[in-house]
Amino acid sequence: MSESAEARRPSSRVLPHELPASLRDAGLANWIREPLDDAVDRRRRIIMPPAAAVLGTPASACQSALLAEARHPDTVFMMGDNPALPKLPPRPALKDFFLLRFRARARSHLLQSARVARENGLDEKVIMACLLHDIAIAGLLSANHGYWGAQMVAPYVDQEVSWAIEKHEALRYFADDSVGYTYPDAYIEYFGPDYDPPDYIRREYQAARQHRWYMTSRLITVNDIYSFDPDAVVDFDEFEDVVGRNFRQPEEGLGFDGSPVAHMWRTMIWPNNFL
Ligand SMILES: [Fe+2]
Ligand SMILES: [Fe+2]
Repeated sequence: MSESAEARRPSSRVLPHELPASLRDAGLANWIREPLDDAVDRRRRIIMPPAAAVLGTPASACQSALLAEARHPDTVFMMGDNPALPKLPPRPALKDFFLLRFRARARSHLLQSARVARENGLDEKVIMACLLHDIAIAGLLSANHGYWGAQMVAPYVDQEVSWAIEKHEALRYFADDSVGYTYPDAYIEYFGPDYDPPDYIRREYQAARQHRWYMTSRLITVNDIYSFDPDAVVDFDEFEDVVGRNFRQPEEGLGFDGSPVAHMWRTMIWPNNFL
């Protein structure tokens, strides 16, 4: 083997460190990336799980153990590209996040919702809102996803679209006979038959009902299908025209346009950054 080939040799022979029992028992091996085949500098990288992901779980107590693990001489915290994730182009567009970041099930849900909205002959704003309504769940955070999602897209879509995305979170809990919308069976499964939405959700619902854009948000819920086919393949390109007319893609790329929400997109590009 030549010297240069030797230098390029995959690093699969690097053995994982033997973790202290305290880390193994807490399942923290998940957060420690050993330098295997794709190692560049043969360092281990520690991913510190964000507070929102671990508060209320045993993993929350392991912050100190992970900090201690990162003090090994050949170990650093994850910053920048995680080799376990596909690399995004330098000026990422909405499509790149759909294809390279969003979780498969959520991506399929969004694409199928948008397709149903289009098949129902709805306005492009509604189709766009359906396409985007759960992107926070797909790539960032689930709790308060309507609010996160609305903020993420607000600089790039019509105000009516981001408003509708925000309010769908509350409207999902309340039936509307005028459009045949009933309380979702999925919510009975998720939360139990006795789940009672909190007061702030009720207030949001009451206020949204009086708003001139109520029906735009309501139509998200109508097309927010849970009985979707997990195997259906919907191509993002089906919506290229709708996205082109209804999503102002920043020239610098999402995450780099200096907008008030750029950090949210950067968090999806590098979700494991320590800071
Ligand atoms: Fe949702
Ligand atoms: Fe949804």
